[in-house]
Amino acid sequence: MDVESVRRDFPTVRKGLGVYLDSACQSLRPDQVIEAINDYYENYPACGGRSVHSMATRVSIAVDETREALASFFGTDDPDCYVFTKNCTEGLNTCAFGLGLKAGDVVVTTDAEHNSNHVPWLTLQDTLGVGRRFSRSDSEGGFDIESFKECMKPDVKVVSVQHCNNVTGCTVPVREVAEIAHDNGSIVMVDGAQSAPHMPVDLKNLDVDLYCMSIHKMLGPTGMGVMYGKREVLESMNPLLLGGGTVGLATYSSYNPAPIPDRFEAGLHNYAGIVGTKAALDYLTAVGMDEIEKWDSKLMKRMMGNLEDVRNLHPVGPTDPSRRGSVFSFNIDGLNPHDIAMMVDNTSGVMIRSGMHCAHPFYVDRGIEGSARASTYLYNDFSDIDAFTDAVRHIAEVFGD
Ligand code: ALA
Repeated sequence: MDVESVRRDFPTVRKGLGVYLDSACQSLRPDQVIEAINDYYENYPACGGRSVHSMATRVSIAVDETREALASFFGTDDPDCYVFTKNCTEGLNTCAFGLGLKAGDVVVTTDAEHNSNHVPWLTLQDTLGVGRRFSRSDSEGGFDIESFKECMKPDVKVVSVQHCNNVTGCTVPVREVAEIAHDNGSIVMVDGAQSAPHMPVDLKNLDVDLYCMSIHKMLGPTGMGVMYGKREVLESMNPLLLGGGTVGLATYSSYNPAPIPDRFEAGLHNYAGIVGTKAALDYLTAVGMDEIEKWDSKLMKRMMGNLEDVRNLHPVGPTDPSRRGSVFSFNIDGLNPHDIAMMVDNTSGVMIRSGMHCAHPFYVDRGIEGSARASTYLYNDFSDIDAFTDAVRHIAEVFGD
């Protein structure tokens, strides 16, 4: 991968607007994505799938092309299996509330899920009496297949797991999980927010039933997400929102649902976001997801190697960089994570995230109040990593206990 050439495509990198290490939250965007969005607003800012005039037809064609690009990017055949959402959270909620669960049905998750794959299930527990079972993480926060197997009983209707964790960076072996879950007759649903941007994801090979992601973490426009589902699974689900575009025909007393994906896409959509999504997928494809995964892993090795002798710094999650994907969460004795984040920004222009990263139960269970977190992507280079680690080392030495 030619990192220098990649870096030239990103305006904030080109302009030297700081070192961005918060890509697990939201990624930067290259010129190609910004230009696609501008092109929509300047040349065909109409709706898709409704009006038949020329400008709207151009939008409808662009929407179809983005779905085709998604199907190809994720190794599947049917573009209609991709539903546009505003983020991964909306996709996960649509799945959770659309699967028709009832009292006594059990949902299995890991004990380290993002709130978006936890709070909807808590709500279903409170309102419908749906049961929960947690696959316990190993001592470093990684997935434990034996604990998962112990959760699998005939009452498990849904297995819903993250693909990559946004705190520890650990990856769940989704294909193996799907095989076990399907043998048990359970639906398999995956939070792909942290995996889809960083590794090749072949949904046919993984054989999951539902897979949600945030496009704004993968170079695409803000407020864009995608929910993938196998055709028969999507066709059996109820939409979360109803209204324009979701029905075949409505009378005063009844309606019949539109075919998928339309039945899940109520109202006018984020068309600029949809065309920007295709530009983002094209960009990632041109660079190569294998290359991006390898580069993230080199960056993580450099980051953790630079910091391994800082005596009062403690990683949250694995100490082996090869287990961490692209996120490094840590604490420094005597310092609050928000103070660490503000200090690295103020002293060195390095932007990281701090807090509980919407993974509250993971922190509460371990008695940790939060952590600082640096996360990388294809546009970071070793100079970014060194700027971050120099700043952290200085802060740990001067202000830490
Ligand atoms: N949940 C996203 C993160 O981890 C926003 O930063």
